[in-house]
Amino acid sequence: WAIHAPYVAAINALKRECNATILAHNYMTPEIYHGIADVVGDSLQLAVEATRTSADVIVQCGVHFMAETSKILNPAKIVLMPDMAAGCSLAESITATGVAEMRAKYPGAPVVSYVNTTAEVKAASDICCTSSNAVQIIRALDADTIIMTPDKYLAQNVAALVPEKRIVWWDGSCIVHEQYTAQDIRDFRDWNPGTRIIAHPECPPDVVAEADFSGSTKGILDYVSAERPERAMLVTECSMASNISDAHPDVEFIGPCNMCPYMKKITLEKVLWSLHTMTTQVEVAPDIADKARLAVQRMIDLSA
Ligand code: 13P
Ligand code: SF4
Repeated sequence: WAIHAPYVAAINALKRECNATILAHNYMTPEIYHGIADVVGDSLQLAVEATRTSADVIVQCGVHFMAETSKILNPAKIVLMPDMAAGCSLAESITATGVAEMRAKYPGAPVVSYVNTTAEVKAASDICCTSSNAVQIIRALDADTIIMTPDKYLAQNVAALVPEKRIVWWDGSCIVHEQYTAQDIRDFRDWNPGTRIIAHPECPPDVVAEADFSGSTKGILDYVSAERPERAMLVTECSMASNISDAHPDVEFIGPCNMCPYMKKITLEKVLWSLHTMTTQVEVAPDIADKARLAVQRMIDLSA
């Protein structure tokens, strides 16, 4: 922590000077999560908080699609991305043309796009979802067939919970969660009996089936807080366990984890530079933003 202290102090001072707020995803490093964030949370919480902030500047400590979502919801505010190369394998897996192809293949079916998509894809969709509200959104839609993009595993995990609907999906996946296998989880459980295994729904369905619980990053935190297991394995990005372990000293977090190379592009040094230079400002073309806002706002309204 001593090596981070000067950056943390400088960022927090500059933040006050610029009337900036820092929205940080649960996968940020602990020095960002605990040191400089004003709001931490999962994708849904960050989107909702973006609609509530009175700050003039939003610094998005997360990946690019999250900053775009903040800009879509706050077109008049400055939204800063400390590293524009912080992408996402899911967001990169589909374009608006892909959405149009799915619509042509399944005429009349509504398109539910994960928030892990570009503004163009959101604009081409009927409604967005996150991993914490996907089941709720799918159940609420008055349609027998529903297109989910771009995460095939999230779609398959939702389909298992909503068997009354026919869900069709795009072939995208998260490079962090797709690496886990059901055999990994079985082996881990055999070697570590009694460990609570908690998987993110971006994991393949056979991995989720081996877990004791599956939920968004907020869902994972809520589960650990409520259950207080003696030992837990979080089948998700590495920083998740690091970030919540301080508040849960009685829980031992064990097991392998996978790092998201995109999330890890965001560092204290880049956040300080971003605030100091007011770069890089995220822009979304107004016509795209107007359409994308409808899809995001529908999701927020349905999740309330
Ligand atoms: P949630 O925090 O919404 O669960 O999303 C996880 C994720 O991978 C974000 O990119
Ligand atoms: Fe994208 Fe996966 Fe990284 Fe989240 S963890 S930003 S879904 S690549």
